[in-house]
Amino acid sequence: MDDKPVEDRGDTRSRRPASKAFRELMGRDWGPTESETPAQPLPSAGYAAQRRLELGRQFAGERLVFPAGQLVPRSNDTDYPFRPHSAFAHLTGLGTDHEPESVLVMEPVEETAAALGSGAPTHEAVLYMRPAATRDTPEFYADARYGEFWVGPRPSLNDVATQTGLRTEHLDQLRDALSKDAGQVQLRVVRQADPVVTEMVSQIRAEAGLPEPQPDGLDSLGPDDRLLEAASEARLIKDAHEVAELRTAVAATIEGFERVVRALPEAIDHPRGERVIESAFEAGARVAGNGLGYETIAAAGPHATTLHWTKNTGSLRRGDLLLLDAGVEADSLYTADITRTLPISGTYTEVQRRVWEAVVDAADAAFAAAVPGNLFRDVHDAAMRVIAERLEEWGLLPVTAAEALREDGQQHRRWMVHGTSHHLGLDVHDCAQARAELYLDGRLEPGMVFTIEPGIYFKPEDLTVPPEYRGIGCRCEDDVLITASGSENLSVALPRRADAIEAWMARLQA
Ligand code: GLY
Ligand code: MN
Repeated sequence: MDDKPVEDRGDTRSRRPASKAFRELMGRDWGPTESETPAQPLPSAGYAAQRRLELGRQFAGERLVFPAGQLVPRSNDTDYPFRPHSAFAHLTGLGTDHEPESVLVMEPVEETAAALGSGAPTHEAVLYMRPAATRDTPEFYADARYGEFWVGPRPSLNDVATQTGLRTEHLDQLRDALSKDAGQVQLRVVRQADPVVTEMVSQIRAEAGLPEPQPDGLDSLGPDDRLLEAASEARLIKDAHEVAELRTAVAATIEGFERVVRALPEAIDHPRGERVIESAFEAGARVAGNGLGYETIAAAGPHATTLHWTKNTGSLRRGDLLLLDAGVEADSLYTADITRTLPISGTYTEVQRRVWEAVVDAADAAFAAAVPGNLFRDVHDAAMRVIAERLEEWGLLPVTAAEALREDGQQHRRWMVHGTSHHLGLDVHDCAQARAELYLDGRLEPGMVFTIEPGIYFKPEDLTVPPEYRGIGCRCEDDVLITASGSENLSVALPRRADAIEAWMARLQA
């Protein structure tokens, strides 16, 4: 009879020896390991220090806590691949799967006023982490989540200090560090990143008799949410390292689109052709970078009119379109986000071409509005004007384009309900917690990176349009960098116009 409590039974599929003799032998005679990637300073380290400096100045004298996050169980004792919270990645410069449970703490320096005056850092940044266990501990061979016998080499405190330029401390020190002078030092945490750290902060506040943070007015955020907002706004303008990483992600994504075009013949004869497309893209993403920046939308035929079609269970028919919305996430965690709507046969029909070219015209109008000083929403408005005009031209709008474009009209949005742009970076929808005055109502500034992605979607059951339009969905999405004088289309190397796409597909399939 099994008398173990159920919560302890998950690892009972084998019996690990527990004898003293076994433990004694496991703990000795291990030579030095040769690390596959000896620690080197990361190219991001200096940039991350500058980001911390700028953020810190908004919160002088306060203790700021940025957790990486916990491993998240996928089922039972298997976890999802770890991805650190984007605020943590931005402020440490760490990418890929670094480092579960670790926490960046920005500790106010004692001479805060002097630092503010001189431009010196207002905080000392310390990374608390769980380093690789020594080999004389059971963690080394018995911990399937963290033990090096199971998961391979893990970094030491020194490794991560070398990589990031941060002071590193063992995670065991975190609680003491956060509770020091509790009640006298304002403590803010990114609550969404790690429930364990958020709970620890709550306990520290309770022990110090501090209230849990509340909004201090109707429109105002509590102190923790204010930190998340600031960390999100800190990413609105990309630095040179971030732009370089985005270029890397875009280049790998364009290669992924080429891989998909080469896979089209196999996909067309397959009952789950959309999955053939999805997996062709993902295979390249895993080889070139960390993987996908978001779930791939491989939408053939009418599936393209479902904006976030990620089931990808359908088949591909010659004569239909394939809308592919996909992005490679680089090892640094910066992602591209690109969409093209391709003719599965290699040639657009006349009506498909008409809709696709209208969408690209709308994108070009949006690009013309994407210049420093314009508002973010000017870009959207420029795209919408073209779409409304084309819908009017085709006789599909129940009113004139001018009437539809008025605030109290908007009939054209039946066929494009989403926005034209979103910021892009560590998150595919980056800077999402920024204030509206800096995002939707904000002015464009050099260093901003966002998408331009107008579309037109005629649902197959849309009785307001003639049958030849029904089931056609098109989106064209590029990634744009605002420069001092205008903008640069980072994804311009991927053909956009119908003729260029047909020629590119023919060349790749020759
Ligand atoms: N590429 C997916 C999205 O922007 O929502
Ligand atoms: Mn997008």
